[in-house]
Amino acid sequence: MKLARSAAVATAAVATVVAALLGSLSTTMASAIPGPNMAPDSNAAGPNAAPGSAVDGGQPAAQPLRAHARRAGLPVGTAVDMAALEADAAYRDTVAAEFNSVTAENVMKWQLVEPVRGQLDFAAADELVRFAEEHGQQVYGHTLLWHNQLPTWLTNGVADGSITPDELRQLLRQHIVDQVTHFRGKVVAWDVVNEVIDDDANLRDTLWLRQLGPGYIADAFRWAHEADPKVKLYLNDYNIEGLNAKSDAYHELATRLLRERVPVDGIGIQGHLGVQFGFSNTVIENLRRFDELGLETSITEADVRMPLPVDTAKLQAQARGFLTLLEGCLLTPGCKRFTVWGFTDRYSWVPGFFTGQGAATIMDERFQPKPAYEAIRNDLMLAGPPHHGR
Ligand code: XIL
Repeated sequence: MKLARSAAVATAAVATVVAALLGSLSTTMASAIPGPNMAPDSNAAGPNAAPGSAVDGGQPAAQPLRAHARRAGLPVGTAVDMAALEADAAYRDTVAAEFNSVTAENVMKWQLVEPVRGQLDFAAADELVRFAEEHGQQVYGHTLLWHNQLPTWLTNGVADGSITPDELRQLLRQHIVDQVTHFRGKVVAWDVVNEVIDDDANLRDTLWLRQLGPGYIADAFRWAHEADPKVKLYLNDYNIEGLNAKSDAYHELATRLLRERVPVDGIGIQGHLGVQFGFSNTVIENLRRFDELGLETSITEADVRMPLPVDTAKLQAQARGFLTLLEGCLLTPGCKRFTVWGFTDRYSWVPGFFTGQGAATIMDERFQPKPAYEAIRNDLMLAGPPHHGR
């Protein structure tokens, strides 16, 4: 059963890659894929439809991503920029129309929730939760502990010695407990620790490791679990989508934490890719080995940047990059969501962080869908019944 379903998805996936590259979905290929598998209340077109065209019954095939996501049983999310959500109606409408999961791009980070020591400010994050409730979206929590975007009172205090290691440990515990408690029942999962392993596959040399020692990771998970025993708790990092030394290190870390009965539930694969680096062909294998540990997986921050200027070949390559992540997720029973790190180039973080690069999202600056958008939609459309085996 499980195998048959995977095989069907694999067929769909391969067909879609080819179709995306050709720029259109071949009816012959699509009709080789079993059944439309539509939810009874769905008016999405079946897999035999070419995107954007009318099919029997006159329904257009092109539904928003979230309609196909729902049918495939894989929530599709985006990071949300709260300033854009407030100021830009087109942005807001697109978040609502296209996605059924949201992640705060910044407003749940420590720097933003406690800019002044002892004064918690969840207003912007609460606004996102409210928006998500209104639009039937799940909220994925990002992030409780990171080495970036920390409040300056905290980093300064550690640097000048006015915050001792013991005090820092208490501050971290309080932060995690306060934040998890505040959002109890509102978020489905938390990135408990973000980017704790470095590019050489060692524990990252951060203020947390230096001040608290390696036990801070297990502590963070235990504190989060105490504050909300139901929410799913994740490790999250970049460059771990395929098999490599860094994902090996996560596999070892997760194995050890589970052995020590630390309440870790999942691995978040950020998925910040670039067309100039090529894409791993071991994403499925990698996701599945975490599956076999009994962990959930999520694609948490997918984007595929490119050296500017944009051209057709790069856009096609970009579509393939997104698909390696999406297909890995669709083919892994425990993969719970596929989230892009922003959906429009208008607000993407990439140009500000990677000189000379950009165009990393699935829609251009005018919200026009790129080949990557269509490839993702086609893959979801073809993916068939809920892919989850458990
Ligand atoms: C980025 C945001 O997109 C930017 O707006 C912010 O200035 C810096 O952080 N990995 C993560 C995310 O886990 O939190 C980062 O988000 C991107 C890399």
